[in-house]
Amino acid sequence: MPITVTDLHAVEILDSRARPTLAVTLTSAEGAVSRAGVPSGASTGSREAVELRDGDKSRFGGQGVRTAVSNVNGEIRDALRGRVLADLAALDEAMIELDGTDNKSRLGANAIVGVSMAAARAISMIAGLPLWRTLSLPEASPRLPVPHFNVVNGGVHAPNELDFQEFTLAPLGAPNEAEAVRAGAEVYGALKRRLAGKGLSTGLGDEGGFAPEIASPEDVLTVLVDSIEDAGYKAGRDGVALAMDPASSEFYRNGKYHVAGEALSSDDMIERYAKIVEHFPVWLLEDGVAESDWDGWERLTARLGGRIELVGDDILCTNPKIIKEAIERKVGNASLIKVNQIGTVTETLEAMRICQEAGWGQFVSHRSGETEDPFIADLAVGTGCGHMKTGAPARGERVAKYNRLIEIEDGEHLPYGLG
Ligand code: PGA
Ligand code: ZN
Repeated sequence: MPITVTDLHAVEILDSRARPTLAVTLTSAEGAVSRAGVPSGASTGSREAVELRDGDKSRFGGQGVRTAVSNVNGEIRDALRGRVLADLAALDEAMIELDGTDNKSRLGANAIVGVSMAAARAISMIAGLPLWRTLSLPEASPRLPVPHFNVVNGGVHAPNELDFQEFTLAPLGAPNEAEAVRAGAEVYGALKRRLAGKGLSTGLGDEGGFAPEIASPEDVLTVLVDSIEDAGYKAGRDGVALAMDPASSEFYRNGKYHVAGEALSSDDMIERYAKIVEHFPVWLLEDGVAESDWDGWERLTARLGGRIELVGDDILCTNPKIIKEAIERKVGNASLIKVNQIGTVTETLEAMRICQEAGWGQFVSHRSGETEDPFIADLAVGTGCGHMKTGAPARGERVAKYNRLIEIEDGEHLPYGLG
């Protein structure tokens, strides 16, 4: 679907962590006016596309995005305005060329991704289709994803003593999206009561999960299994399963993994996960070992790749080139998918297509800093990737995405789950 941009306007707004980000509005000659909000991460991979921050310490401690805003309102707007672009790929390519770097560091990936998301939405409006219908992959049909609710937060997302960053509920056995969201919300409530009953804090981390003072990952998993049962569900793949993102690059120092006071080698860490998988219904492990530990990744994949989904986040950065290398080296069997990590919607879809072709999983994800834009809900449905994570079933910027999934399901007869 061709698009002719007539105007682009960005403004500095706040993300869910009180840090500045961009909202972009795009106006097209075909009559669409669309908007997008740009997400932002905290536990970032070193090879992510570059988020441009002003560095002016007198505003937001240097985190301002006025330069990125001016790049949208100036250079990008001037380059795109009035051109008839054949499709989203042509528009994204024009921005990549204009930027001229291979990591979007000149104009800023935050500027570029905001325009790309707004353009994707504008194109769906011009076509008269819901966004998810225009975000598709060649060999896949739309599906409603299994929502992964991050209900216990640690690592750099919370000030507690827990080293692992995310513990997630995955209602794999739910019959549909609405029931999956209900399961997530009910277990979240049961977990809150259980933590309070133990005298533990029910304060929240950045993604809306609880941040109790529990150091041991196994202790967290035990509380989660109990909470699933408290809420009347079965803990397991035919009910509510569990997933973890330790975000291990954050606790990997000098060749050791530092977990709850112990310093573990790669092999010790992998054996620890193998035990966890034996004892708990954990079906997915993201960033089990660090982005710099490719050998560890190979061994982790050989050890557990046949049993569970091993998702690469920091190591892959939604980058088609790195994903191809990982597929060749048998590093992981799935990629996390974050639009702002690579910086355009077109490259995100390309990363997903490469995974699909290799039989790899694609796990669509929010960032720890979010806006109320539910874009990724449509991305997950349209590409039929089968699973998505966007935080706890609490806090508006997370709930916006889950609610969007429920609204897509309403009136559409789409299959639910991984298929
Ligand atoms: P981030 O965390 O958005 O802070 O990078 C999410 C993740 O690690 O998956
Ligand atoms: Zn991650």
